[in-house]
Amino acid sequence: MRHFSYIDGEFCAESVPLREIAQKVGTPTYIYSKATLEHHYKILEKCLSGVNARIAFAVKSNSNRAVINTLAQLGAGADTVSEGEIRRALNAGVPANKIVFSGVGKTKAELEFAVKNQIHQINIESIQELETLSQIATNLGQTQDIVFRVNPDVAAGGHEKISTGYASSKFGISVERTFSLYEKAQNLSGIRACGLAVHIGSQISDIAPFEAAYKVLAQMVHNLRDKGFNVSRLDLGGGLAAVYQDDFEGPDLEAYGAMVKRVLGDLGVEIEIEPGRLISANAGVLLTRAVVTKENGGREFCVLDAAMNDLMRPALYEAYHQMLPVKKALDSTNLMPTTIVGPICETGDTFTKDRNVEPINPDDLVVFMSAGAYGFSMASNYNSRPLAAEVMVSGDKWQIVRPRQTYDEIYGKEILPVWE
Ligand code: LLP
Repeated sequence: MRHFSYIDGEFCAESVPLREIAQKVGTPTYIYSKATLEHHYKILEKCLSGVNARIAFAVKSNSNRAVINTLAQLGAGADTVSEGEIRRALNAGVPANKIVFSGVGKTKAELEFAVKNQIHQINIESIQELETLSQIATNLGQTQDIVFRVNPDVAAGGHEKISTGYASSKFGISVERTFSLYEKAQNLSGIRACGLAVHIGSQISDIAPFEAAYKVLAQMVHNLRDKGFNVSRLDLGGGLAAVYQDDFEGPDLEAYGAMVKRVLGDLGVEIEIEPGRLISANAGVLLTRAVVTKENGGREFCVLDAAMNDLMRPALYEAYHQMLPVKKALDSTNLMPTTIVGPICETGDTFTKDRNVEPINPDDLVVFMSAGAYGFSMASNYNSRPLAAEVMVSGDKWQIVRPRQTYDEIYGKEILPVWE
């Protein structure tokens, strides 16, 4: 992982020791590296330079406005899936004409908000949504650019819960039905059908499933054009894998860029790509402190002050996050199988079982790596635990980009009913 390393035995984000942040901000705290965010964005941009492509950062992976703003300054757009995400993107400086609105169940209010704000594109996922949007935009006297999200029946993804492209998933529209909707759209007011979209899943490192899905799109473009329809845009979705393990190299982005050029380059279309974790995962870590250690039934446990409400991925997907001590161990041969858990009252609140790690003592600081994507953005208040603080580092400087939530912010707006 770039820009996170030991300097003089202390783990640092860029050149800031995480111990300093723990002392001033407390734990658990998410820490983002600005340079890493920028690095990943620029690498991808470079690999796509041979095609007419724009990058819309998938805001769901990390929706802190400081993160969105950092990428917006490099020219990134935003891929959003709710009114809240559109609002965040606009507020963080993403121009409306770079915002894409995806999602399988957009409400009328959300569609109206998107149209009123004249966003770049809405990705349509059903006939009902097509008709509703047409009505909304017509009533507002506007014309909204749309693309149809096709379900290419290509399954891919790191875990069954994040694979979306197989035929019977809830996402997208079948290839055959897309043709009839494209035709129908020609006669509806308030919308302009511009092209097609796919998103087959997440944490995909092999280029082959992307290629299979994009080939489906390319064939569809030809067929639609043969029927006389205008197709000027393709949205390729997200899904490129991030590196969670040292022995994993991640997707070959140059090969990916070359494949996009080979399969879609001659179609003369604008291309949009919606990466989330590829950009944000390795740009963030979760800093946490050991609270107690104990032995039960022959198993060594370490209980941290971070829990599944802070980083849900291990509990939900059995996802692996590398864990490192903030103070570099002097002797890393002395490993001990340890089960690392949070303090929440359920057994699922387990980060890792029997992992060989250097002995951890109460008050020791440790970090979970590659937690910048789907970490804070999936956090909750379960067990009435405050949302963690978020910090961004740039060089030797750091700033709080979201303070730790207060208890009043957790329950202060609740109302004790008075019945008479
Ligand atoms: N575009 C669409 C339409 C999506 O549904 C997603 C992610 C993305 C782009 C960005 O995908 P990425 O490039 O980040 O793979 N919470 C799960 C991941 C869920 C992904 C949902 N959709 C996790 O922590 O693994």
